[in-house]
Amino acid sequence: MCGIFGYIGSKRATPILVDGLRRLEYRGYDSTGIAVKNGEISIFKKVGKVSEMQSILPSNIQGTSGIGHTRWATHGGVTEENAHPHASSSGDVVIVHNGIINNSRILRASLVAQGVELKSETDSEALAHIIEIELAVDNNPEAAVRRTLQKASGTWGLCVLFKNHDVIVVAANGSTLEIGKGDGEMFISSDGPTLSEFTDRVVHLHDDDIAVLTATSITRSSLKGDRKSVEVSVLEKSWGEADLGEYEHYMLKEIHEQPDALRHCISGRLDRVRGNGRLGGLRLSPSALAKVPHVRLIGCGTALHAAEIGQLLIEKLARIPAVTHIASEFRHNDPVINPNALHFAVSQSGETADTLSAIKEIQLKGAQVYGVVNVVGSTIARQCGQGVYIHSGPEQAVASTKAFSNMVVALTMFALQVGRSRSISKEKGKEIIHGLQQIPHLIEEYLEDVGPIMEAVELVKDAKSVFFLGRGISAPVAKEGALKLMEVAYIPCLAYPAGEMKHGPIALLEEGSPIIFVVPNDHVKEKTVSAIHESKARGAKIILIHEEGDEISEEGDVNIAIPKVHPLLSPLLTVVPMQLIAYHTALALGNDVDRPRNLAKSVTVE
Ligand code: F6R
Repeated sequence: MCGIFGYIGSKRATPILVDGLRRLEYRGYDSTGIAVKNGEISIFKKVGKVSEMQSILPSNIQGTSGIGHTRWATHGGVTEENAHPHASSSGDVVIVHNGIINNSRILRASLVAQGVELKSETDSEALAHIIEIELAVDNNPEAAVRRTLQKASGTWGLCVLFKNHDVIVVAANGSTLEIGKGDGEMFISSDGPTLSEFTDRVVHLHDDDIAVLTATSITRSSLKGDRKSVEVSVLEKSWGEADLGEYEHYMLKEIHEQPDALRHCISGRLDRVRGNGRLGGLRLSPSALAKVPHVRLIGCGTALHAAEIGQLLIEKLARIPAVTHIASEFRHNDPVINPNALHFAVSQSGETADTLSAIKEIQLKGAQVYGVVNVVGSTIARQCGQGVYIHSGPEQAVASTKAFSNMVVALTMFALQVGRSRSISKEKGKEIIHGLQQIPHLIEEYLEDVGPIMEAVELVKDAKSVFFLGRGISAPVAKEGALKLMEVAYIPCLAYPAGEMKHGPIALLEEGSPIIFVVPNDHVKEKTVSAIHESKARGAKIILIHEEGDEISEEGDVNIAIPKVHPLLSPLLTVVPMQLIAYHTALALGNDVDRPRNLAKSVTVE
């Protein structure tokens, strides 16, 4: 979703801004722009990719400070006028903004009444004009931004460039902004890890912060005007390269990175002697764990599906009631919160606005929330203050793959740890640990011979819709398979627990309708086979994901074998063929597999 990159220093700003924006591209966006100060402030913007905006840039723009933006439209269509940066009437004040100004209609109306001509339909533009009006009061950039934001309600990551002042003023509220401190230069990014190419020293802006940046100084204060100290922390490097390496697309690269990502996630977190998990970041003693009344997990999209698998594992291994919630619904339903219960927020990016609001709701009602997060130091990680990093490494493709597996493994280790403090034996614990340790190798084995994926692609690529069915622990895996195919191939997909099919969805089946069945060798296998027969009898074409050597291995029209796996850990294997089907179908249809239309990697609006 929208991204911000800024620079003030002694180097030419333009190439740095373009480089920074390219690093933010994976978040998803529809238009791009930069503003560079060189006496005047010059603005260049374009609908489309960073490369398209770059193609309109004059060859040698001077200027050593500037701000850039990638926009994902919320208020107003995808047009050049609505793309950021936005300038005040005189052009002396230029802003880029992430987030939403809730009272923008009132602010815009009041500007129009004062004779200001608004050039865009955005909620953001009003800020540039109000800052200019406030600047006329005392010619103080920081004070002008402060008074402007005191009039605004909503969320912001804001960067302001001034024609007549050698500073960039930045402000944050509910939208991440980080300052990278270099030697005689400062960088600004809405995505901390992108700063690692430029510096390893960062300053996190907190909600209600305003900071004034020069090339060599940072002055931080609150929205009210109180001075605050500037805390510099070291940016943690995550494992894995963010470039494509030998792969054609990030999605394929990340599917293939799953074995190593899983190794990173479990490393040092399994106690083989005691048959137990060792998730230190949870800071929960066995006696505290033994008293937990119930567990609630929240997330969106892929993270939600991982949470649903976690829920089943927690109930199975720890014998504690567990329930999963869609984060975007959670706070609006005024949930009853038990402060003694355990709450988990699951998120790859750590920036998802819906998940963040749910966390704040739980915290407001007196309970703690544990993060299950990939991006180190992200907003959700900091808001929770405790939890588990899943250590997937950077995930660049919009469609999440390796983060899903690591979320599942992190929640499995948690279920094991609670299970050992309550119900399951050391032997059972050792069995799960043994199973977990096998998984990276089993995925590698599968990836060496993925089976008839292209036959499956032939069956789904021109279909009106595709069903995904599974039971028990495979029901959420089926949902994840459906989400992947929908996201990158734009084919309507329906996912159901297989037993539910006969209660309605079966009406959709026609001769040749493709159905992907997820059927590992577990206690519900036989029941799922009945659903396969019912579907075949109505003309459906079956793509069957099964364990190798299983007696059901010929039940499908296309049969994809995964290696034998512990029944509780099967999602880590069964999901992989579905990731590959989604990837290859998107390619067969000529889609931009890493940057599917309309989607964003980091969904920072509610
Ligand atoms: C699916 C996908 C989205 C995200 C969802 C939550 O491939 O990418 O459904 O899973 O937006 O994002 P995070 O995990 O960053 O909170």
